[in-house]
Amino acid sequence: MKALVLAGGTGSRLRPFTHTGAKQLLPIANKPVLFYALESLASAGIRDVGIVVGAHARDIRELTGDGTGFGLRITYLHQSRPLGLAHAVLIARDFLGDDDFLLYLGDNYLQQGVTDFARLAAAAPAAARLLLTPVADPSAFGVAEVDPEGNVLRLEEKPDSPRSALALIGVYAFSPAVHEAVRAITPSARGELEITHAVQWMIDRGMRVRAETTTRPWRDTGSVEDLLEVNRHVLDGLEGNVEGKVDPHSTLVGRVRVAEGAIVRGSRVVGPVVIGAGAVVSNSSVGPYTSIGEDCLVADSAIEYSVLLPGAQVEGAARIEGSLIGRGAVVRPAPRLPQAHRLVIGDHSKVYLPS
Ligand code: DAU
Repeated sequence: MKALVLAGGTGSRLRPFTHTGAKQLLPIANKPVLFYALESLASAGIRDVGIVVGAHARDIRELTGDGTGFGLRITYLHQSRPLGLAHAVLIARDFLGDDDFLLYLGDNYLQQGVTDFARLAAAAPAAARLLLTPVADPSAFGVAEVDPEGNVLRLEEKPDSPRSALALIGVYAFSPAVHEAVRAITPSARGELEITHAVQWMIDRGMRVRAETTTRPWRDTGSVEDLLEVNRHVLDGLEGNVEGKVDPHSTLVGRVRVAEGAIVRGSRVVGPVVIGAGAVVSNSSVGPYTSIGEDCLVADSAIEYSVLLPGAQVEGAARIEGSLIGRGAVVRPAPRLPQAHRLVIGDHSKVYLPS
């Protein structure tokens, strides 16, 4: 069995981060979201992985390489524009050949991994097999109607009036029958070749499409809120480990990971927290549920439930929470400008001021 991981797309809900980088490389506990997907494919015994890349192809290739570090053989497939999930399958035809494969959306995080799902797909073949989970807001997802035996009857992509609360998680198992389906469908109202339409096409032709339902933690990390939530979840399972320097004026409470080369001085860090290599935390209060990336600076500040990308600097910030702070971004008090905020922020950035 092969795997096709989708790491193209626009990531419009994650602007401005996706202006300069791939959303699949945004960090969860200081590790790119995409790496969790690749690790779980390797654990499931899959070796040949195609990664569909778009505008940020170079960054993804540079970080992920040929896959040796994951125990995988990675082939990169370039998608000229994000024309839909089924389009990504279409352009991967030669790579996939006549093998069964898992389609894995590279911005999805599944705590349970894909080992059981891949095993089931290999043991009880079907034309397609979907992974579903009950959600509170099904209209934000692909939605499936399933009979009591687990056969999928009908699929809709982000319906206004969902007929079920079962959302499609971004992991699918396909037989080569999907290739005819992705060739047969036409673009949806939003101009994309939808994988849900391709699967519906298979159902309409009497093919066997099965569903597995799970209630284990899963998130699409397509928005800041979801990314922070996945970060919280992953940090919750983390072991503490101090390899960097923590001075005697600092207190670490609970599970705190301080990478080699990081420095914590005069600070209180309440885990779970990760502090990346080369980061400096000084006279600050950090955590819980916070990831400080490599080479960040946090000084004279309080920060919790947040993610700082590498090289971000936060100084003199009384209290920051629920924030995602970009690579090399600077947050610092404005001198001598009482009653005023001074902002130098990029396109599509969001600033929430106290009212
Ligand atoms: O997260 C689960 C949901 O993922 C499912 O419930 C939906 O049925 C499914 O359509 C998908 O919806 P999204 O709107 O979240 O898909 P998104 O555009 O975010 O794309 C998912 C991944 O695939 C993401 O890593 C970007 C990548 N992608 C997307 C498109 C449209 C590509 O590589 N190429 C593309 O053309």
